[in-house]
Amino acid sequence: MRMVWHRASLRRQTVAGLRAPRSGAKRHCEAAKRSTAAACLLGGLRRSFAAIAALMLAGLIAGPATALAQQARPASTRVTFTKDVAPIFQARCQSCHRPGTVAPMSLLTYQDARPWARAIKDRVVRREMPPWHYDKTAGIQKLKGDISLTDEQIATIAAWVDAGAPMGDPKDMPAALVFNDEAWTIGKPDLVITAPTDTIYAEGPDWWVNRNVESAIVEDRYIKAVETRVSKEGRLVVHHAIATLIQEESEPQAGTAGRTVLRGPVVNIDEGTYLSEYAVGKYGETFPEGTGRVIRAGAKVRFNMHYHAVGKQIPATTSVGFVFYPKGYQPKRFIMDLFPHENDTIDIPPGQMTRTDVYYSLPKAARLIGFQPHMHMRGKAMCMEAIYLDGNREMLSCVDRFDFNWHVMYQYQDDVAPLLPKGTTIHLIAIHDNTATSRRNPDPTLWVGWGQRSIDDMAAAHINTEFMEDADYERALAERKARQGKAAGTQQQP
Ligand code: HEC
Repeated sequence: MRMVWHRASLRRQTVAGLRAPRSGAKRHCEAAKRSTAAACLLGGLRRSFAAIAALMLAGLIAGPATALAQQARPASTRVTFTKDVAPIFQARCQSCHRPGTVAPMSLLTYQDARPWARAIKDRVVRREMPPWHYDKTAGIQKLKGDISLTDEQIATIAAWVDAGAPMGDPKDMPAALVFNDEAWTIGKPDLVITAPTDTIYAEGPDWWVNRNVESAIVEDRYIKAVETRVSKEGRLVVHHAIATLIQEESEPQAGTAGRTVLRGPVVNIDEGTYLSEYAVGKYGETFPEGTGRVIRAGAKVRFNMHYHAVGKQIPATTSVGFVFYPKGYQPKRFIMDLFPHENDTIDIPPGQMTRTDVYYSLPKAARLIGFQPHMHMRGKAMCMEAIYLDGNREMLSCVDRFDFNWHVMYQYQDDVAPLLPKGTTIHLIAIHDNTATSRRNPDPTLWVGWGQRSIDDMAAAHINTEFMEDADYERALAERKARQGKAAGTQQQP
């Protein structure tokens, strides 16, 4: 009952909140001066799917990097592998592209990289590799662990390929990096939960599978750090493994027995709430001091694996390790996995590009910690904006090259993490591409709606969120303003 009411009231409120600023794209763009052209496009053109599609194809896919890459370089600054490219590969590619991982080739040496030169230019210029698919022209740009390439790095790689991918002087080659994959990066875990071993066939299509495992936790514990790991051999075939918690997700309140249960439209209770992910190049997460997640007595862990066959049969075992806060210690700040989603209105006709809107009104003031779009194979792009109660809107984040293969949680740096007052509506704009031009589209002749299978689709996002009391929100806001001075105001309404 309560849930139904909540949903209905959400819609009403959203419509009211949107109406004022929606008198036209121009007006929207003028009003949102701080937001960028791309944000205005997405915000303003809501009636025209075709226009969005065309703009995304023309403007967003062939980004500024292409133009830069095509600029000629004088011969004196000839780009070589050893001098210019190897340092970029070390910094941005080799954590994944080396022997023993699921990445298709090593990029450690010139001999490894040379045969892939064309593919490298293609993926890099499209900003598909490294797998960081965040729009650099819209919303908040200061993100933790940003592995993206700068325009200059992209131009360097492209110029190297265009020049015939020369090796250069071996003396310029930087010393090889040393990798150590055998230890937990979070330190020794207090608890390790392991999924049953899967044996991945030598040949066959990619395989997605879920395994639920009892946690054997008998009392609520607060998580300080968490990491998902795959057995050494398994790393050859595991594209990613995501651990989620299946438990009643709620917001524990210090000093009271009361809980605000945020189910219904927020938490995807069947899939659980996102905990941690293994993917090549991705390591565990330690929460900032005083901050944590909770694992409840009786919780289950769900492991979701994406396997990729490599020509020989391989066993793979995935585990999740936890470091807990001491018993009795309660962190002051809790991070929750909000999961705003819209299932009923996903309507993706064959051969078309579509837009789905998701609205969620914050029941309390909140700080958003991270944003991870969740769509399936036809997912193309997603933006998240905040609609304030006074009707002002602000673009927070866009992922303009969404790739179903990658589940990146884009985490805001602490000083720019959106601080949103109670009642702010989070608005997700999801773009799905069901045309034949989409490389990942399994079948552009099918109608697609919501569903759990990868060939169905979703419009949702995991948003790591810290809810707070109004007084704490006011304090956090005042502290930030004091730090930044009046000018900054990255995400606060005027
Ligand atoms: C986080 C791990 C990761 C990082 C970092 C990464 N890659 Fe990849 N890359 C992969 C994986 C896994 C694949 C294959 C599956 C896919 O595309 O998702 C891949 C695929 C590729 C391909 C396509 C190969 C083919 O089969 O045609 C190219 C080219 C590539 N990467 C180049 C790069 C370059 C260049 C960098 C650094 C600038 C880089 N990658 C950084 C993991 C990574």
